[in-house]
Amino acid sequence: MDLRGVILAGGKGSRLGDLTKVTNKHLLPVGPYPMVYHPLKKMTGIGIEDILLVSGTEHMGDFVELLGSGKDHRCQLTYRVQDEAGGIAQALSLAEGFSNGARSLVILGDNIFEDQLNDFIQEANRFPDCAFVMLKQVHDPQRYGVAEMQDGKILSIEEKPKAPKSDFAVAGIYLYPPDVFTVIKTLRPSKRGELEITDVNQHYLKVGRLRYQSFQGYWTDAGTFESLGVANKLVTANPPAF
Ligand code: DAU
Repeated sequence: MDLRGVILAGGKGSRLGDLTKVTNKHLLPVGPYPMVYHPLKKMTGIGIEDILLVSGTEHMGDFVELLGSGKDHRCQLTYRVQDEAGGIAQALSLAEGFSNGARSLVILGDNIFEDQLNDFIQEANRFPDCAFVMLKQVHDPQRYGVAEMQDGKILSIEEKPKAPKSDFAVAGIYLYPPDVFTVIKTLRPSKRGELEITDVNQHYLKVGRLRYQSFQGYWTDAGTFESLGVANKLVTANPPAF
């Protein structure tokens, strides 16, 4: 498969207070696994064998200790250090050499969801020049990237808008064509000083190369006390499909 996996597990985890004082958010438990197992298993579950994990300097050693070469998970893991939490798009830019001209399936390490990714990939394979995002209707869209929809089409995407134009959150599961790294090089830091993944998605929207799919099952992030609790409840009640 001409598709490589990228798990983004950097960032500060500051919204979790003392829970992330001595460890990384993505090593906290979600159901029976450390959080990072969830994106990893989603990727290996659809046959992706080459996977890059990006994290900061502080806890990279813990990820290597936990996951090693990837052989216990039937994959080959590569690790790259993000020196500072410069944003999701900045973290993704570190995957350029690793991706080596292939498309990238990118999962944010704190995103937990029920569906297998088979359908997502099958659909994406029909449009290899397009970027794909996953959408989910939520009750608190202002916490996320939000897609404004009309007649089943995405009209605009805004990052954490104060007045969301819809309740469709853009989840942290993306599939990008190889030119994503060229797009990232054109970005400027946002007001919060980060290279935003929403700006990448807006680029693909502008040039008519953004498509989306919707989740059937549950989806949540796990980056706040509340959502970490929700993620644990969801995973315990309905274990996700890998
Ligand atoms: O969960 C989906 C949302 O994730 C999207 O709807 C938003 O558009 C997107 O910006 C993102 O929003 P968050 O504010 O929740 O992102 P957060 O800063 O919590 O980062 C999410 C993951 O990305 C985190 O678990 C690790 C990774 N990350 C983040 C940053 C800022 C990195 O690897 N490096 C980074 O510098």
